[in-house]
Amino acid sequence: MRMRTGIASLAIQLPSRVLDVRDLATLRGIDPDKFTKGLGCGEIALCSDDENVVTLAAGAAKRAIARWGGDVKDIGLVVVGSETAQDMSRPLSAFMAEAIGLEGAYRSYETKHACYGGTVALRQALEWRASGAARGKAALVVASDVALYAPKDPGEPTQGAGAVAFVVEEPTVASVDLESYAWSEPVFDFWRPVGESFPRVDGPLSLDCYNRGALRCFQQLADARFGGDLEATFEHFAASCFHVPFPKMVKKAVRHIGEQAGWDEATTARLYGTKVDPTMGWNRQVGNSYTAALWMSVASVLAGADEGTELAAFSYGSGFGTELLTLRAGPAAKEGAWAAEFEADVADRERIDASTYEAWRTVRPVAAE
Ligand code: HMG
Repeated sequence: MRMRTGIASLAIQLPSRVLDVRDLATLRGIDPDKFTKGLGCGEIALCSDDENVVTLAAGAAKRAIARWGGDVKDIGLVVVGSETAQDMSRPLSAFMAEAIGLEGAYRSYETKHACYGGTVALRQALEWRASGAARGKAALVVASDVALYAPKDPGEPTQGAGAVAFVVEEPTVASVDLESYAWSEPVFDFWRPVGESFPRVDGPLSLDCYNRGALRCFQQLADARFGGDLEATFEHFAASCFHVPFPKMVKKAVRHIGEQAGWDEATTARLYGTKVDPTMGWNRQVGNSYTAALWMSVASVLAGADEGTELAAFSYGSGFGTELLTLRAGPAAKEGAWAAEFEADVADRERIDASTYEAWRTVRPVAAE
């Protein structure tokens, strides 16, 4: 018999500093409208000198475990999905477990597939529970990243950082359907060679790949459940969340899907405006947090949602791998306890100016330190 499974607890951890993209634009001599209107960006979450991918993961994990209220001895799997590698051998799950004092009878590892790595970790935890191999144990899954580009890189306004943690067990926050829709192609659109501090990016190729992956995944879902009708697919879900490298990218992906499906402009605008754009409010306050970005969007939609609310979640990771998941809000979504933590993190952040940012980039050039 299949075990009930899904997200039993959810938590977010943001770093303690923030930069307005308009200040970054002024620093770089660029029209701020390019970053705010052209890319749709708002704020960039930044680490202080004593924060990094591990402290973010540990903070989110502690919050998720505390809210779950279960016994940590009942955790049988600990996975961290990230592309902010600390070490070529030692997994981030070990760094995180050390930070939160977790040891015991659990399997521990790190997953990597660019921004898709957190989704892979979550899928593996769900499938591990559903297979029966978990013998009723829970999984702790964390998506954590620090996204930094080289100063003056075109990707600089799309930086960000943050972590989302899940306890996978009873579906009190959300159930996740076991059927999902994946599409992968081996490309070099965004990659970070061993030993290099910042990613190399083929921006235009990354945009094409993202659009193609989104269309392939949504078409599979439409074919499987909605007679191939993409409009009916978007209509069905209360919200469709996307990986958010920057909000304009998501808008372009919806436009691409609409063009392929033959929607008129009004249909595209309506579906984007009602089902997709409202899912990116938290992303605009954080920037691209890579593996965590999709799940911040999902967390924002789940917070306050009525039980049974259905949503779709499209994950993209450069390289490239994509997967579309479908979820249903559980009874604990309405209370949405993680929203208060998110808002407190946002309210407590130190707002830094452009000159502080510039000075920090010279002393703290590497994301993983
Ligand atoms: P760019 O080349 O500097 O931007 O960087 P642009 O020149 O193409 O302009 C962007 C938009 O701003 C355009 O609008 C301009 O017209 C507009 P569009 O035509 O696209 O609608 N614009 C203005 N608007 C108002 N006022 C103005 C103004 N000037 C221009 N004055 C690029 C864009 C995406 C290349 C860059 O941000 C980048 O390299 N980003 C990193 C790569 C990325 O995010 N790719 C997205 C898909 S891949 C992905 O999601 C994976 C990722 O998350 C990593 C992972 O998987 O690990 C990145």
